[in-house]
Amino acid sequence: MWRKLFVLVLAHGFALGSLLAQHSYTPADVEDGGRLFRTNCTNCHGPNGDAIPTIDLGRGRFRQVYSDTDLVRIIRNGIPGTPMPANNFDEFRATTIVAYLRSMAADEARPGALAGDATRGKALFAGKGECFTCHRVKGTGSRSGPDLTEIGAMRRGTELERAMLDPDAEVLAGNRAFRAVATDGTEIIGTLLNQDAFSVQLLDSKDRLRYLQKSDLREQGYVAKSPMPAYRDKFNAQELADVVSYLSNLKGLDLP
Ligand code: HEC
Ligand code: HEC
Repeated sequence: MWRKLFVLVLAHGFALGSLLAQHSYTPADVEDGGRLFRTNCTNCHGPNGDAIPTIDLGRGRFRQVYSDTDLVRIIRNGIPGTPMPANNFDEFRATTIVAYLRSMAADEARPGALAGDATRGKALFAGKGECFTCHRVKGTGSRSGPDLTEIGAMRRGTELERAMLDPDAEVLAGNRAFRAVATDGTEIIGTLLNQDAFSVQLLDSKDRLRYLQKSDLREQGYVAKSPMPAYRDKFNAQELADVVSYLSNLKGLDLP
């Protein structure tokens, strides 16, 4: 009861942050907001939220002063007459995005973050990390993992770091490995390209297109764990920062 009252007072007392103060958010809610942001916003606003001139979503720099309530409204209704689209989110989901945007600034300002060296990172990527055994960058490497040519335009540094430290934490739907076991016990793991009632089409780890009849399979389904190894013990903090710096600079094919 007292807590509720306190929250109400808070909500009325401050425009900024009031909406966030009315709910309680678990870190998981903020992560959900991050996922929604990555799938619905980064293609225009960039992974750091600063790709559109004069707007910096992660640092709370907008063209006008907005309260959290305003932001939720903008996220849900869009801005008519501009490319900013309406989104079909309920209020809670829209609020988790705002909570995520607020958390971005705190993330950036992490004390003790090491500066990485992209050139060293590139060498670690090809050498010690053996990243090319699964990933492709600008036409070189394997297709068994996602192509990283544009990864710097899609992910923030902290996300790239997390992808290496804890690959199971978040596997994007399109990146999930699919595993099929034939009736004779042969196992095929790959990326699911397509499936219908009778067949599954996979791109296997050797980049071969596999067309499998479901009647020949004993088991089939997504693999919950990432096939990517964790680099927690393989790279030290400096090496990790170097690889993150290299990845952050991958923003598509270099134009001649
Ligand atoms: C199709 C591209 C596109 C997508 C997708 C998109 N936005 Fe926008 N957004 C824009 C543009 C362009 C503007 C600037 C509109 C204007 O001219 O006022 C904008 C404006 C905004 C503003 C107001 C900023 C200000 O300073 O006035 C916020 C907040 C915002 N977007 C958040 C989001 C969030 C959060 C998402 C994902 C749920 C998202 N946008 C998805 C293109 C997009
Ligand atoms: C054994 C194969 C394998 C190796 C080796 C590997 N990865 Fe991965 N990686 C994957 C797969 C599969 C995924 C997609 C599933 C996931 O997100 O974990 C992935 C995902 C990623 C992602 C997230 C991509 C996204 O779209 O969010 C990054 C970043 C990444 N890897 C970087 C690296 C780096 C850097 C190295 C080397 C230090 C490396 N990987 C080594 C298989 C591998």
